[in-house]
Formats: sequence, structure tokens, C-alpha cells
Amino acid sequence: MCGIVGYMGNNTASSIIMEGLKKLEYRGYDSAGICTLHGGTAQTIRSEGKLVNLERLLEGKALQGHVGIGHTRWATHGRPTENNAHPHQAGSVIVVHNGIIENHLALKDGLRGIGHTFKSETDTEVVAHLIEQKMKQGSGLVEAVSVTLQELKGAYALCIVSEAEPEMLIAAKHGSPLVVGLGEEEYFVASDIPAILGYTRDMVFMEDGEMVVFKEGAAAFSTLAGEPLTKKPRHIDWSPLLAEKDGYRHFMLKEIFEQPRAVQDTLAGRLLEETGDVYLEDLGLTDAELTGFSRVSIVACGTSWHSGLVGKFYLEGLCRIPVEVDFASEFRYRNPVIGPDTLLIAISQSGETADTLAALREARSRGVRTIAICNVIDSSIAREADGVIYTHAGPEIGVASTKAFVTQLIALLLFSFRWGRASGAVTREQGQELIAQLLHLPALMDDVLQLDAVVEAVARRFHNARDFLYLGRGINYPLALEGALKLKEISYIHAEGYPAGEMKHGPIALIDENMPVVVIAPCDSHYEKVISNLEEVRARGGRIILLCTAGDAGMRDKAEEVLQIPLVAGHLTPILLSVPLQLLAYHVSVLKGNDVDQPRNLAKSVTVE
Ligand code: AGP
Repeated sequence: MCGIVGYMGNNTASSIIMEGLKKLEYRGYDSAGICTLHGGTAQTIRSEGKLVNLERLLEGKALQGHVGIGHTRWATHGRPTENNAHPHQAGSVIVVHNGIIENHLALKDGLRGIGHTFKSETDTEVVAHLIEQKMKQGSGLVEAVSVTLQELKGAYALCIVSEAEPEMLIAAKHGSPLVVGLGEEEYFVASDIPAILGYTRDMVFMEDGEMVVFKEGAAAFSTLAGEPLTKKPRHIDWSPLLAEKDGYRHFMLKEIFEQPRAVQDTLAGRLLEETGDVYLEDLGLTDAELTGFSRVSIVACGTSWHSGLVGKFYLEGLCRIPVEVDFASEFRYRNPVIGPDTLLIAISQSGETADTLAALREARSRGVRTIAICNVIDSSIAREADGVIYTHAGPEIGVASTKAFVTQLIALLLFSFRWGRASGAVTREQGQELIAQLLHLPALMDDVLQLDAVVEAVARRFHNARDFLYLGRGINYPLALEGALKLKEISYIHAEGYPAGEMKHGPIALIDENMPVVVIAPCDSHYEKVISNLEEVRARGGRIILLCTAGDAGMRDKAEEVLQIPLVAGHLTPILLSVPLQLLAYHVSVLKGNDVDQPRNLAKSVTVE
């Protein structure tokens, strides 16, 4: 996730763009840049790190010009260096981009073959080169952009300017958000409303496959192929704070709803449908090395530890490799038995958690090969591990992890799948089947998000409870832990997650008519066993909130509340179940009047031991 801004009008472009970028910093903050056109010459300033660095640079140089583009980056391809920061220029063409160009490697090869050289490691630079190439061959900017966009695969929101046609700004969208602001003789373009809300409230929301050309005080909307479109502006009357959260009341809710997109981004460019295989670009392990390990050790903290527990089911189930999952804070103090036959996986959203970093270093000091699953590009854990699988969830602002968890599950599934293909444990046909399931997953997540209002009603009924119990079995037992952790973190209600079969060995004593019990019972191989556990709760008067599979009709009278997810293959149930569990914690927290995004005593990234 990155933020882009474009401006054309009578005011100083650089200051408007800078203000816009500040409002988009939540979308990414590892580097930033601005380019304005003045007298037909591009003036570009880029810097590594947060926007404040760019702002400092800008103070020294008054960037002139009434046309310009800007970017705040959340790295996906290429490290967060100044060189990889946007805007990217090729010849006269300058581009900023939010999204992932999936076919950039093939396009780059083609361009290299005709003499283009690249200055950055990004997928974006290829767009500038493609446009430039077409302009060299005689096209005007509009035509060159239109033809180029039709060659791109993947997701993009783009702003494009050129020194050759300096009185023009072009923007286009496919898969990444883009909004156009209509001012008095001026136009704004941005990834999100807050960036331009201070200047205009009249906005046009771009759809996939659309572009807009600003020239001579007019905006011409069209399809990518140039067919003219009539777009109707909408008047936005949000408060600026609400706008930053995209209309959502809290970042956590926004991030819960972003999950279908986050899953799509984590899958992008990695599924090879033809061969039924998975491509993990920075894994750093050959097939022979991968299948040479005889066991796996996973280290992580909190929610990331829960995803590690699910990962154990993936790896053991798909690859028949024994897996141990440790709390990172325990791992290095227990003198773990690890050696050259062990692959260590460190999972961390932030990539900066001190305990996880220390566990990774401990393993490396013993000569163990390591890979990281991280969300923040170039974070310490990502840098220090031998290989990395990035989850492309985009910045997670809410302290309670939601989209990072779900994309960690995706990364672990992709990794297990890769291993299974390398070892032969997963056949080509099984691989193709899994790919088909994964491609359908974002749409199913969208369906599950429709439960929001029902979950809110459940929360209303139970938010005054003193304790909660969460029960699950097998691959969904970690989900019981995660559901309980989410509730604890933001509602401050005591909650315990338990393997449902263990309940009779102790926690059953807690059950009475005041105890809400969240029973996780999708239709899988544990279903009947969990239902027996549910009956044990019922017999003691416990109040049951049941998470089950749609179509499971017999369950309605066994529970006080029933939340249903679509029927999917067992390895995908934890991903879908995450959504109602997150929503339940969220709504309980809101009803209790808590600070959802910054709960007491917690920090987003725990960088101390
Ligand atoms: C999750 O909701 C928590 N805020 C917390 O448990 C978190 O998962 C843990 O601190 C690990 O963070 P990391 O993934 O950034 O390493």
C-alpha cells in the first residue's frame, strides 16, 4: 500500500502535494518523493524514511510549478532506499504508482533488450520506460499511456506527467484506489479522500479500467482504450478525521474490512496456475535445500505466534514435516535442540519485535538457516533472516493485529504449498486445486464481512460479561486463542482460548449461566467432537455463541447465537473464521467505550524484552 497525489491548477503544486501526502502517510512511510514541472523541466526530490525527511529537504528548495505528482511509499518491490523512492523517471516521463505490476519482470526484460537501463529495483520504473518508449516511437503522451496501461498486469493507481507535454497530468486506476477532486480551475488526484478534502469536497471516484487526462483547465475521463466516459461527482461531507479512516470509525475496523484486498496483494504474482506451483521471490532456498530440512522451528509472539500454530497444521499436513512452535521469548532461554537439519521461521508483522529478533539471532548463531514472515519491508527481522516472505497487508495502524494475522496465514500456506510441490507431497493437480481455492478466497471474505451487523448485535448482548471462553479443535484451536486475545486486548474482558477437548480437564468448572462460550465448529474432521463439547457446555447452562458452516441447519437451537461462514476446504477455515472473531472483539470494545486503536498498556511493536 502506498499513497499517491497529483495536482494541476493555479497554486503551487509542491505545497498542495506535500499536505496531501501527510494525510496519506498511514498508507506507507518508508520513503517519499515529489516532482513538479516548471518551464518544461521536471524537478524531483526524494528521500528515504518518513515524510518529515522529504519536508526538510523541500524547505531548502522552493519547488516551483503548477503541475506535479507525489508519493509516500510502502515498499513491495525493492528496498526502501532513496533510489527506489517514487517518482520514477525515464526520459521525459515521470510516474508515481500504488500497486503491484505483476508482469514487470517480463516487461523489463523486453525493454532491456531494446536498450533501456533501469535505475531502481521497483516494478514501477518499468511503466515510465514503457511510456517513454512509445513516445520515442512517435506517440503523444495520452496515446503512449493508454497503450502502456493495456500491457500491464496487476494492480495500479498511477499519476503520470511528462516534460515533453508539461501542461498535462494523467491518472489511471486498476485495482488500487484513486479519487479525483474537482476544485475551482484546479484538479487533485489522490489514493484517498483525506489527501484532498482540505481543498474540495466534490470528488469523482475512479473505477477499474479508467483514466483521466487533465489539460487546459478540463478533465477528460475515459476507458484505458480512450473511449470517453461521463463521470458524476459526489459531494463528500466527512470530517477530516473520519476521512483518514476512509469513513470507518476506527483503523481496526478499516483494517478488518481491508482483508480481502490484503489477501489478494499477498497472493499477487505468486500463484503459477499452469504448473500448480507457488513462486516466493525472496525465499533464498533452492528446492534441494528446502527439502533437505527434516524439521521446522517457528518462533513468534502474540498474534504472530497464533499464526505459527496454524502454520504447524499447514506444514505437517501438506508436507509431513515435524514442526515446533515456540514463544520467541521462551525459545532462546530453553537451550533449544536445533541444528543444520532445522529451518527456523520467525513470524512478525512489524519485523522489530525484540523477542522474535533475539530468537532469530540465537538460531543464526547456532548455524541454523532462517526465513522471516514479515509485513514491514526491510525491517530488522526481514533483513537478518536468510530469506523472507513478505505479507503485503499494507501498514497496520490499529494495535490489535487483524489483516497482518490473516496474511501471515496466507504466507504460511503458500510456503507449505511451495515445500509440498518441491518434495512431491503436493501434486500438480492438488496445487492447481489449491490455487483455485485461494483465488476465490477474497470474494468469500467479502461475504463473511457481511456478518458485521449480526456480530454487532451479538456483541450488544454479551458486552457486559466478565469472562469469555473460546473453544476450538485442530487447525481452529489457534483461532480460539486468537479470538480470546483480540477480546482481551481491546475490551479488557478476561478471555481464555482452549482446545475444546481439554475443557473437561479444568475450565468446565468455570461454566455457568453467566459465561459466554464461543464455540468454533466448522464442518471439518473435528466437527462431531466439537459438537459433543458444545453439549457439555449446554448441559451446564453456558451461553453459546456458535461459529459454524453455512447450511448447518441443526445448530440453530443448540446455541444462543449462530454465526455462519461459507463452506471451504479445512485449511482455509481459519482465514474465514478470523473475521467474525475480530468483529466480535471490535464491537464489544466500542460498546464498552474503549480506545479501540490504542488500547491501554499496549504498543504496536514491542521492541523491548
Ligand atoms: C496482536 O493483536 C498484538 N498486538 C500482539 O500480540 C502482536 O501480535 C505481538 O506483539 C507480535 O508483534 P509482531 O507480529 O509485530 O512481532
